[in-house]
Amino acid sequence: MPGPKWLKDAVFYEIYPQSFYDSNGDGIGDLPGIIAKLDYISSLGVNAIWLNPCFESPFQDAGYDVSDFCKVAARYGSNADLKQLFKQAHKRGMKVILDLVAGHTSIEHPWFKESCKAEKNKYSNHFIWTDSWLSGAEGYRFINGYAERDGNCMINFFYCQPALNYGFNAPDPKCPWQLPMNHPDVKAVREELRKIMKFWLDMGCDGFRVDMASSLVRGPNAAAGIKELWHDYRSWFDKNYPDAILVSEWSNPALAVNAGFHIDFLVHFGLPGYTSLFRKEEYRVPNSPYTGGNSYFDREGKGDAKVFAEEIIEQLRHTAGKGYLSVPTGNHDVGRIRQGRSIEELKCVYTCIFTLPGVPFLYYGDEIGMDYVCDLVSKEGGYNRTGARTPMQWDKGGKAGFSSASPKNFYLPLDPKAGRPTVAEQEKDQDSLLNFVRKLIKLRRDNPALASDGEFKPLFAERNTYPFVYERILYAKRFVIAVNPSGKQGITEFGLPNADKAKAIVDSGCKLELRPGTVRLTMPPASYAIYSI
Ligand code: GLC
Ligand code: CA
Repeated sequence: MPGPKWLKDAVFYEIYPQSFYDSNGDGIGDLPGIIAKLDYISSLGVNAIWLNPCFESPFQDAGYDVSDFCKVAARYGSNADLKQLFKQAHKRGMKVILDLVAGHTSIEHPWFKESCKAEKNKYSNHFIWTDSWLSGAEGYRFINGYAERDGNCMINFFYCQPALNYGFNAPDPKCPWQLPMNHPDVKAVREELRKIMKFWLDMGCDGFRVDMASSLVRGPNAAAGIKELWHDYRSWFDKNYPDAILVSEWSNPALAVNAGFHIDFLVHFGLPGYTSLFRKEEYRVPNSPYTGGNSYFDREGKGDAKVFAEEIIEQLRHTAGKGYLSVPTGNHDVGRIRQGRSIEELKCVYTCIFTLPGVPFLYYGDEIGMDYVCDLVSKEGGYNRTGARTPMQWDKGGKAGFSSASPKNFYLPLDPKAGRPTVAEQEKDQDSLLNFVRKLIKLRRDNPALASDGEFKPLFAERNTYPFVYERILYAKRFVIAVNPSGKQGITEFGLPNADKAKAIVDSGCKLELRPGTVRLTMPPASYAIYSI
């Protein structure tokens, strides 16, 4: 079962809470601020929201270092505010999922503080400690010299994020400190995570985006262990919260969906397709596995649509009928999709993103084409991610309508570029990117063939060749989507049954001509079209 019905036409909006809207003038976005903007979010046509972590934290990794999983951080408001957000979103037909940082805590978490103590206690094995300050294990990273107890503690990401202990599959006999997955202390951690999920689900939350979902179990058979772990949670969801969902940060839908997730992202790490299509090489996060070729969505026209089309088909082969892949416009960990692109070029990119199978995610601000802000000093462990986390641009005033605070007290500086895009201006313009995004989302949600389950069939997808053309099909309904991001005219011919019935519903000057047995599509530079049949 791919999951609850509402996923069939789902489109998500990702909100980085500290940068969305500040309701109380302290310069940091907050939950009442998000509630105040729910009508705007709903006007986009999305039916779900993903909120980045909003829990108690020392903010050494922007809240991905949690010190209390069941308490909203004071800077964002209170648990009552979050409950109110669930309620108000539901009233508008939108779901809300939270970020579940399942793999680690902050070093400030009381569990970790207890775990550091020399005297054995309930939390000693909540984290993964070696048995001596001199020991370690290859391939893992540890905090050394930190605790009173003798041993080093394994970390998941930054030094301040000790890994929770979901066990080893199978432990190395030479390292007796590695506990098996069925060890009672390890099972206790699993139950703690379930309790956290239950706490929020009972309050009205609709599921979770699970941070670093593939990293929880270790050892030579980690993959099988991770699968077992998430299957366990998923069957608990199916039984007790059948309308709630689990979305993974895994980057391999074929594996993630078969491990029990409803949705998994294609993002910057893992498979090459997403990067090859959407990420200009000069803006790619360092160490991306995809080094060959350029972004397909680039005027220079040297990209590869084939690797992407093949990847989507392969992923669909493993996930169809069980769960969904997601192609996001971006997220808080990568550069902005706007980088190096004009607004018109973004329309071309979004024509593709919002007509792909699976469940699209729109990162806040991408609907107006917010740009990456270069050369910012790292904030809360953001490093090169910081520039994609700047305050939302609501209007063209000096504070961009983000907050009443003085801009020098903003969580992050605004994009300083003159003419930065704003919601207020784009609201007034029928042809704005904002209204174009609304149109695409509406089209998708009104037409099941264009939504999560419609079949995906490439009609023309080649290396270094433009355009990229594909069909979305469900029952008798078909759509042809064509994008030509290159700076040159793109011409192609392909077979298209019932082509005489094709009607352009989005078109930036393309020409579809009937030929005996085929159609000929001529696309001007940086153009896009959607035909319904
Ligand atoms: C995920 C988050 C990222 C965070 C990391 C550690 O990749 O998206 O922002 O820094 O996990 O929790
Ligand atoms: Ca605030």
